[in-house]
Amino acid sequence: FDAVDVIRTKRDRQHLSNAQIDWVIDAYTRGVVAEEQMASLAMAIYLNGMSRGEVVQWTQAMIASGERMDYSSLGVPTADKHSTGGVGDKITLMLAPLVASFGVAVPQLSGRGLGHTGGTLDKMEAIPGWRASLSNDEVLAQLDSVGAVVCAAGPGLTPADKKLYALRDVTGTVESIPLIASSIMSKKIAEGTGALVLDVKVGSGAFMKDLADARELARTMVDLGTDAGVTTVALLTDMSTPLGRTVGNGLEVREAVEVLAGGGPEDVVELTVALAVEMLGAAGRPVDADEVRSALADGRAMDTWRRMIQAQGGDPDGELPTAQATEDVLADADGVLTALDAYAVGVASWRLGAGRARREDPVQAAAGIEIHAKPGDVVRAGEPILTLHTDTPERFGRARQALEGAWKVAPPGATVVSRPVVIDRIH
Ligand code: URA
Repeated sequence: FDAVDVIRTKRDRQHLSNAQIDWVIDAYTRGVVAEEQMASLAMAIYLNGMSRGEVVQWTQAMIASGERMDYSSLGVPTADKHSTGGVGDKITLMLAPLVASFGVAVPQLSGRGLGHTGGTLDKMEAIPGWRASLSNDEVLAQLDSVGAVVCAAGPGLTPADKKLYALRDVTGTVESIPLIASSIMSKKIAEGTGALVLDVKVGSGAFMKDLADARELARTMVDLGTDAGVTTVALLTDMSTPLGRTVGNGLEVREAVEVLAGGGPEDVVELTVALAVEMLGAAGRPVDADEVRSALADGRAMDTWRRMIQAQGGDPDGELPTAQATEDVLADADGVLTALDAYAVGVASWRLGAGRARREDPVQAAAGIEIHAKPGDVVRAGEPILTLHTDTPERFGRARQALEGAWKVAPPGATVVSRPVVIDRIH
C-alpha cells in the first residue's frame, strides 16, 4: 500500500477498503505513514465522511493498535459511562461508586480537560494524595476489592487514537462524526467493559450544538458498541446551561460529595440516577430509580466512594483547596433568570485557571465558578449570580469578558420553560 493512494481514494469520495484501513492505521501507529499524510487523510474524512462499514473497520483497526483489557476473571458484570464533555459535568465522580454499590464493577478510564470542558482526572486530582495513574494489575485488583476505579488510560490502550486525536486537535479535524465516534468507541471497547452508557451532550457547552448532529453521533456510537458485543445505550442530555452549581475542579468535587451525602443540586442528582439506571440495566442487573436514589440517601454510594479514593492514595476527609481570590458577579436587575450559557461559563472557568490551553499545562485545583442562580431562579439587583474563584486574580478581567451576555433576566413573575435534563434515549 501507499499512503498517497489511500489519501486519494478518500479525497475522490471512494470507499476505503478494509485492507487499506487496517494498513494505514497500523502504519501510522508505527510511524511509517507521516503526520502530514495522516493529517491530509483526516481532512478528507472530515470533508467526505465515512460509510458505516468504513467506521466499523476504522474502529477495529484502532482497537487492534494496542492491548485489550479483560475483566472476565472478576466474575461480576462490568459497566462504564462516557460523556462527550460538558461544563460542570462531575457525574462520573458519583456514578462510579454508586453503580459499584449495586455489585456491578465500573472500570472508568477517564481523561483530562481540554478547552472549555473539564476533565474528570483534573477534578479528582484536587483530592489530596489521589493518584490517576494505575497499572493494569492495580486496576484489576481495585475492581475486585472496591468495585470502582477512575483512572487514566494506560499507554498500551489504543495508541493509534492517542496519536490521531493529538493530530486532529491541531489540524481542524476534531469535529467529524465518524472520527469522534471511532475515537471514543475504540477506547471503550478496548477497555473491556461489558456494558456502556453514552451521555451525548447537546447545546452551547457541548461538541454537538444541535440535536440532529448529537443524534447521529449517538446512533453511530451505539451501533459500533453493539456490533462489538458491548451492550450500548445513549442518553442525549442538555448542555445549554452548566450542570449543577459548580464549575471547576475542587469546587466540583465538593458538589459531588454533597450528592454522595444524599444532597446536591437536583439536575445533577437526576442525571446521575438516570445514568445509573441505564448502566445497571445494560449490565443485566436492573434496578429502579427509587432504589438508586436510596443508595445515595443511605450512604452506600458514599461508602464505596471513600474506599475508591483511599485505594488510590487519596484522603476522602482531606481538605479541598480554596482559591486565593474570589469575586462576585452581580445581577443588575430584579427578575427571573431565563438562561445561563454553558459555553460562556465554561470559557470563564477555563480562563480563571480551571482548564488548560496546551496539553502539558497544569490546572488550578481551586479555580472555577460557583453558580448562585440557575434558569428559573429569582434574582435581585445587586445580589450575586456567580462567584469567580482563582489563585491568579489578574485573570478576573478576561473571565468577566467571557461572561458578557451569558445570562438573561426576564421581568419579575415571568415563567421559564425549563429544558429536561434527559432529552432522548437511543439504543
Ligand atoms: N473525545 C474523544 O475521545 N475523541 C474524540 O474524537 C472527541 C472527543
